[in-house]
This record gives sequence, C-alpha cells and structure tokens, in this order.
Amino acid sequence: VIPSAVRQAQSWALGVLSDGDWAVDATVGNGQDTCFLARRVGPAGRVIGFDVQSEALVAASARLHREGLAGRVTLVHRGHEELAGWFRDHAAQRRPRVFMFNLGYRPGGDPKIVTRPDSTVSALETALELVVPGGLVTVVAYPGHEGGAEEAERVLSWSRSIPRSMARAVEFAELNTRGPAPLLIAVSRSKHRP
Ligand SMILES: C[S@@+](CC[C@H](N)C(=O)[O-])C[C@H]1O[C@@H](n2cnc3c(N)ncnc32)[C@H](O)[C@@H]1O
Repeated sequence: VIPSAVRQAQSWALGVLSDGDWAVDATVGNGQDTCFLARRVGPAGRVIGFDVQSEALVAASARLHREGLAGRVTLVHRGHEELAGWFRDHAAQRRPRVFMFNLGYRPGGDPKIVTRPDSTVSALETALELVVPGGLVTVVAYPGHEGGAEEAERVLSWSRSIPRSMARAVEFAELNTRGPAPLLIAVSRSKHRP
C-alpha cells in the first residue's frame, strides 16, 4: 500500500502530467524515470534528460529504443546545473510541468560519480523557476552513502526556505528502516505567480 520514495515521486508526477507536456529528468542514470516520463507525456510530449556520465546516457538510450520511446526524448550530456542555459538556448518558450531528480550514483555504475550539494541546489532553484505554475519538482535523496546525508540536508533546508506563496514543499520517508531511508522531497509550484 505504501510505495517506495521513487514510486511515490512517480505517482505524484502522474497526477500532474498530461499528454503533450514537457518534463525533465535531471539525473537520467539507467533511464527508469526517463522512460516513465516519456510514456506519460505521450508522442506529442517531450522529455529532456541530463546526465554527466556517457555510460548512463548509453544505457538509457538503449532502454528508450527498446521501449519505443526514444523519439520523444532528448538526452543531454551535461550536468543539471546547466539546465537554465540549455533551455535558454534550445527551448526558450517551453516550460516543463515536471522535473525529477534522483540523487546519488548510478545503480551498477561508478559510485564516485555522484550528485553534489551545490550543483543540486543550484539546479533545483532553476527547476522551480522554469516549472509551469501548478507543476512539480521531485527529489529522491539517499542519506546512506558518503556525502549523501549532507546533500539531503541541503535539499531539505532549500525546500524549507521556499516562500509559501511560491510553492508547497513536502517530505516523504520510511521510518522503521535499518539504515538511513531514501527521502522524497516534492515541491509543488503555486498555480499563480506570487
Ligand atoms: C541515482 S542515479 C539516477 C537513477 C535514474 N533515475 C535511474 O532510473 O536509473 C544518479 C545519476 O546522476 C548522475 N549525475 C551526477 N551528477 C550529475 C549532475 N551534476 N547532473 C546530472 N546528472 C548527474 C549520475 O551520473 C547518475 O547517473
């Protein structure tokens, strides 16, 4: 009945996305969320996916082709801290309805290539600026790995600092786990600009 943090993020995203929307996967990894978003926005929609690792983009691209979704996805081999520049240069008129962040390192990949607190928070600020009114930014953070607790704390304090008139921020995490549980933070942009 109670989903994992990753599934709960998808479930909330499902609730706001419609056919033809644009969405961003800010950490493509093996492409699980990218495929999920691509399926949800449909053939008229578009997903932009960012990752710093070419291995991740190769794995995600293979998966997108296998699932017949590659035609509606643009994979960008850049860090999500370059989100603002990418949208300015390539799609200045488009405002995505959902941004998904899944922090940490790629499952099965190099554990040293991880998201970092400064670039994560900078990308989140851009995401909250770019997302359409009524849209959603989700972050799954993993306090269990080295540097992960600090990153999760930075995301939490950024979320708490968002003016209430701009967005609502919530936290979702399992309580009775053996180690630190993954944390989902979801930020829902107000329908009207403050
Ligand atoms: C936990 S994985 C994402 C998992 C992915 N959602 C999936 O379905 O497999 C985190 C990813 O973030 C990537 N990453 C690290 N720093 C990044 C950055 N600055 N911008 C974008 N991606 C980054 C890593 O290369 C890694 O693939």
